[in-house]
Amino acid sequence: MKTFKKIVYWSLIILALIQFIPVDRTLKPINQKENFVVVFNTPKNVEQILEKACYDCHSNETVYPKYAYVAPISWSIQHHINEGREHLNFSEWGKFNQDLKKNMLENSARSVKDYSMPFPGYISQHPEANLTKAERVLLVDYFEGILKSGKY
Ligand code: HEC
Repeated sequence: MKTFKKIVYWSLIILALIQFIPVDRTLKPINQKENFVVVFNTPKNVEQILEKACYDCHSNETVYPKYAYVAPISWSIQHHINEGREHLNFSEWGKFNQDLKKNMLENSARSVKDYSMPFPGYISQHPEANLTKAERVLLVDYFEGILKSGKY
């Protein structure tokens, strides 16, 4: 019992201490000329789907939930956000070259179609990101429409 108490005691101390390790949650300012929804003058209903289902990980407009401030969960969340932004950042769309844009549009359509995006683990915490079939169709059609137009 003594050892058990010691383990609990030290775990709590460590848990308290790791809260002081800083996590960079700074949101970079958005240049509206590079912002996907501004570039394409995206209709409001599509923009709302992107906002609720993709922006937390693929934009500079992340809204952090309360539990995102508690280490070590916060580290895992920030890691996913950084990784998501590396693959695709709707806020910095204008920075990508033609090949990357094409790739991102294709991958976005595919990943929404095959339910790999939004991230399944995210949906359990964000029910609003659990897109209906109609919302998925709308989003996929939107990405594919841009691809077909060739203007991106
Ligand atoms: C909880 C965070 C999160 C959300 C929400 C999210 N993604 Fe992702 N996304 C990621 C991460 C992490 C990766 C990189 C790892 C991977 O591909 O699994 C990624 C990768 C991608 C990629 C690149 C895949 C590839 O093949 O290179 C695309 C495209 C994408 N996401 C589109 C979307 C779209 C569109 C939405 C909204 C409908 C969305 N994601 C929502 C975290 C997220």
